[in-house]
Amino acid sequence: MATTTWDARPFVPDSADLDELRKAAGGCKGCDLYEAATQTVFGAGPRTARVLMLGEQPGDQEDKAGAPFVGPAGRVLDRALEELGVDRDQVYVTNAVKHFKFVPAERGKRRIHKTPSRTEVVACRPWLLAELRLVRPEFVVLLGAVAAKAVMGPSFKLTEHRGKMFDLPAELDNEPLPPARALATVHPSSVLRAPDRDEAYRAFAADLKPLASL
Ligand code: URA
Ligand code: SF4
Repeated sequence: MATTTWDARPFVPDSADLDELRKAAGGCKGCDLYEAATQTVFGAGPRTARVLMLGEQPGDQEDKAGAPFVGPAGRVLDRALEELGVDRDQVYVTNAVKHFKFVPAERGKRRIHKTPSRTEVVACRPWLLAELRLVRPEFVVLLGAVAAKAVMGPSFKLTEHRGKMFDLPAELDNEPLPPARALATVHPSSVLRAPDRDEAYRAFAADLKPLASL
């Protein structure tokens, strides 16, 4: 029996623009997550964006809407961007994993977010790579540990690097990455779960300060 390798690569068209990529991603079966989710949630934003923000995976609302960061975490992000004077329409926003991973709540119809596995992150990475190579952002913001590890490798420690600038690696999956500066911070949904939300929000917004100078 053939063993399946989880990998989005066979679904990624070679030379494509963002619309072609998005369309192709709609049919990705690079891992099992497409089965239970509503739809692929591809990145959104202009190809000319100087900033790319990377989240973990779509949440419940993103899964239904088909767009990244439109739910509660997105509102935290929007608030921070607005306070920094950054127009969200000028930012390319995407996720490390393009399908919503969840478990059904024990009672009722609610779907509970489940953190994607390393295998799923790696399987989905060809989409991110294609996005990075098309958009060629000057600045990449890694939102949370899953996003940071997706790009910087599994040994990356968010607690050590949070709020600091570093270079994006020169390559990912043996493919060259365009040069860019990167910054890692917590995931905006962690702000909503924090015991002191105001404090957590202030720290999150402070991490994003370098964006104001762009
Ligand atoms: N959390 C994420 O990481 N991404 C989204 O798009 C929404 C919530
Ligand atoms: Fe493809 Fe990524 Fe969806 Fe898995 S999560 S099916 S690799 S788009």
